[in-house]
Amino acid sequence: MEPLVSKLFTPIQIRDITIPNRVWMSPMCTYSAATGSGLPTDFHQAHYAARAAGGVGLVMVEATGVNPVAPISPVDLGLWSHDQIEPFSRVTAAIRAGGAVPAVQLAHAGRKASTDAPWNGGGYVGPETNGWETVGPSPLAFPGLPAPRELTVSEIQEVVQQFAGAAVRADQAGFDVVEIHAAHGYLLHNFLSPISNKRTDSYGGSLENRARIVLEVIDAIRAVWPEEKPVFMRISTTDWVEENPQDDRESWTLSQSRQLALWASEHGVDLIDASSGGLDIVPIPHDRDYQTAKAADLHASTGVTVAAVGRIDDAQTAHNLVDSGDVNAVFLGRPLLKDPSWANQAALALGAEPRYVHQYDYVL
Ligand SMILES: Cc1cc2nc3c(=O)[nH]c(=O)nc-3n(C[C@H](O)[C@H](O)[C@H](O)COP(=O)(O)O)c2cc1C
Repeated sequence: MEPLVSKLFTPIQIRDITIPNRVWMSPMCTYSAATGSGLPTDFHQAHYAARAAGGVGLVMVEATGVNPVAPISPVDLGLWSHDQIEPFSRVTAAIRAGGAVPAVQLAHAGRKASTDAPWNGGGYVGPETNGWETVGPSPLAFPGLPAPRELTVSEIQEVVQQFAGAAVRADQAGFDVVEIHAAHGYLLHNFLSPISNKRTDSYGGSLENRARIVLEVIDAIRAVWPEEKPVFMRISTTDWVEENPQDDRESWTLSQSRQLALWASEHGVDLIDASSGGLDIVPIPHDRDYQTAKAADLHASTGVTVAAVGRIDDAQTAHNLVDSGDVNAVFLGRPLLKDPSWANQAALALGAEPRYVHQYDYVL
């Protein structure tokens, strides 16, 4: 029998990079760097190599801080200094050896930074316990965390340049894709959402002003990142406030996300990774497609290349999302923690060709 041609298991070319299929590993913090160092360890190498050899087309390395106060926790990764390049290059080599495209998510955690690893409770850690003072667009706290210090305009410009500096180091470490983390209530999302941004200067107020830092980050990265390599951006398509009739706050919404996706694409972002939420603690629906439906909307309404993520845990769902043209690719998180070879197993279940590395291919 001829193998089924599932679009999920066909390559996608973005700029000059060909990604062998459309099942990708979603960024997931592993809280496994040596405290305060930002340096990848043997664990990172083994963890990412296993998912690459398991058949995903692209591995997105977890949120990686662009400066020393950008990580979510003191045990997160960072690309803020030269000595971090070489350990990251071992991670990219391991991902390539598994046949996947190495990608990294560049992040600044903003008002949700400086927290403990989740298995230690995830609470705020202060400067006396390897933490730091957090920063944000306005001195407004995320529930349960301290209020951040408001960034000055010159500090905003510094953060923009730090994203670019991290992109230069990501290129030197061998990454083919960088993703700007503008989702989940971290710094760039703090600027986008009227809930966390009450500034009255050119970085607050109108949608154009709230999106300014994001577009500046894209421009700064594009100025230093190779033309032939893609830039992705993860956004929260909604704060899940407009969906709640009891909550009448002005918030970040799907229609603003559509505008941001168009602007981002004009500024050189090649793909929107469409997640949601994280800005505040609010009710989120339990429907399986709670997030992927918004990703599909974003793709249909803007024509921008979009990847969906969230609760895509069976092969048929992943196949349907991509084969229908609803989205261009899918990111998987927890399913890949359970089963590093999820992508190859999904290919087999769908009757498509798995992407075995040659070391396994000749016996399977
Ligand atoms: C342990 C863990 C760590 C995560 N870390 C990140 C991260 O570093 N950056 C990010 O954008 N999302 C992060 N996420 C969210 C995932 O990338 C993904 O969007 C989410 O888990 C939903 O997908 P899933 O249902 O396939 O797990 C994390 C999720 C988990 C479970």
